[in-house]
Amino acid sequence: SATTPIRATLFPGDGIGPEIAESVKQVFQAAEVPIEWEEHYVGTTIDPRTQSFLTWESLESVRKNRVGLKGPMATPIGKGHRSLNLTLRKELNLYANVRPCYSLPGYKTRYDNVDLITIRENTEGEYSGLEHQVVRGVVESIKIITRQASLRVAEYAFHYAKAHGRERVSAIHKANIMQKTDGLFLKCCREVANKYPEIVYEEVVIDNCCMMLVKNPALFDVLVMPNLYGDIISDLCAGLIGGLGLTPSCNIGEGGIALAEAVHGSAPDIAGKNLANPTALLLSSVTMLRHLDLHDKADGIQNAILNTIAEGKYRTADLGGSSKTTEFTKAIIDHL
Ligand code: NAI
Ligand code: MG
Repeated sequence: SATTPIRATLFPGDGIGPEIAESVKQVFQAAEVPIEWEEHYVGTTIDPRTQSFLTWESLESVRKNRVGLKGPMATPIGKGHRSLNLTLRKELNLYANVRPCYSLPGYKTRYDNVDLITIRENTEGEYSGLEHQVVRGVVESIKIITRQASLRVAEYAFHYAKAHGRERVSAIHKANIMQKTDGLFLKCCREVANKYPEIVYEEVVIDNCCMMLVKNPALFDVLVMPNLYGDIISDLCAGLIGGLGLTPSCNIGEGGIALAEAVHGSAPDIAGKNLANPTALLLSSVTMLRHLDLHDKADGIQNAILNTIAEGKYRTADLGGSSKTTEFTKAIIDHL
């Protein structure tokens, strides 16, 4: 048929990024997904318009297409320029990062009933990039919490819960210590919770939340939290189901932008060795397809991934298998 393809931005990213992005491209082609990728690589010099290695053109591409998929981008520690991920999140106002995490049928961990959605505030908190040395030997990092961003992410979490038939939203915090910042975050969550009486609302202190998640993840449903807590909790959740190679995410921005990305980083320890598990990025691409209402394609690809893992014949090393990235990808294509 002569349907016009949808244009989407693709950042293959660093480390294992290009290898797992290649998997996505191949699976999309085999599944005849009507998407035309606009590929953008991270630049090798700082673009003054973004103050980072991210090019202005690549940001424009996401702004125009409204949808995209990004591989991991490495952030060298202490190099004195803006993190690429922070730049993307701030420039595109990607205010909520949605991280679904569910047990994969046939892949055994301590639990078989994990079904969690972490919703991470994505633009402020400790990630505001406001760090400086006060005097020698004393540095300061400023945690920003605003009413606007807190209400926006809380609103997104409750809306998500309602739209997806979820029953409970837990706000994760440390307001006993961070009284002003996390206190404001909670106040905003309560305000929004009042508008959703059909959804159970609770507040859980982050350290206790970690313990409860490890002991019994079924206690939770949708979790909403400030930026840093979301970073930490979502890796913990990934651990419950088998690791970072499995968990997808999608960044939601103002005006309906959706930039999907895996939760994991560039995995320099296995980069370039055809060892990476492409599942996390593939499942992220599935969230992108759902955002575009391409549900039949999304279902087809998601089932092929889950069936390949469940069958167990082809698994990457992180799941105890011996398949290369390319072999595992081919097995998924065979399952389509
Ligand atoms: P990482 O997530 O890259 O790796 C942690 C561990 O998980 C490693 O042992 C790695 O081999 C393994 N792993 C991750 N993804 C995997 C996959 N798909 N298949 C199999 N194994 C996988 O975290 P790390 O090492 O702390 O960070 C490396 C770089 O990535 C840093 O520069 C960091 O700043 C960046 N990073 C970028 C993110 C992003 O772009 N959203 C997120 C997290 C880290
Ligand atoms: Mg992280």
